[in-house]
Amino acid sequence: MADKIEVLLTEEEVNKRIREMGEEISARYEGQSVTLVCILKGAAPFACELAKRITIPVEIEFMRCSSYGNETQSSGVVKIVQDLDHPIRGKHVIVVEDIIDTGRTMNYLLTVLSEREPATLELCALLDKPDRRVTDVQVDYLGFEIPDAFVVGYGLDYAQKYRNLPYVGICTPGNP
Ligand code: IMP
Ligand code: MG
Repeated sequence: MADKIEVLLTEEEVNKRIREMGEEISARYEGQSVTLVCILKGAAPFACELAKRITIPVEIEFMRCSSYGNETQSSGVVKIVQDLDHPIRGKHVIVVEDIIDTGRTMNYLLTVLSEREPATLELCALLDKPDRRVTDVQVDYLGFEIPDAFVVGYGLDYAQKYRNLPYVGICTPGNP
């Protein structure tokens, strides 16, 4: 049986919301510049779209972590697989993430990044599943709050598939 994908947020809805988030960030940091830290791989499509909607100067950095777990759940043990190329000390940093689920990944990463003494450190996430939270995480800019379902598309994957879908859909895996 094939995986079933049901549209949750259309491409138009997602892009409209990202445009608003870009405007909010531009207004908040008016006259300054921001460093977007894109968390690979899932946040890449979101970070690209967001960066295009920010009207103040932007630097884009990438970071990749692995959170030892299975395909649909993180374990809380986070490892930085690829670190930033440049120091962030004194910069206005916004971490850009695809989805906050248990909150463990971001809780760890924000602690690590804050130790590097950025001027400010905020979190921007496309999606939030608050029902599943086990660790407190403050999301400063949020695209959408969604129910406790496994979603794919707009960067999010199921076993590395479906990142390229231009919308967000609820995925019900079929048999392998
Ligand atoms: P957390 O540490 O539990 O908050 O896990 C966050 C990470 O788990 C995200 O960056 C995603 O990579 C992955 N994740 C959590 N929920 C989903 C989902 O519904 N679809 C795809 N990936 C997810
Ligand atoms: Mg991720």
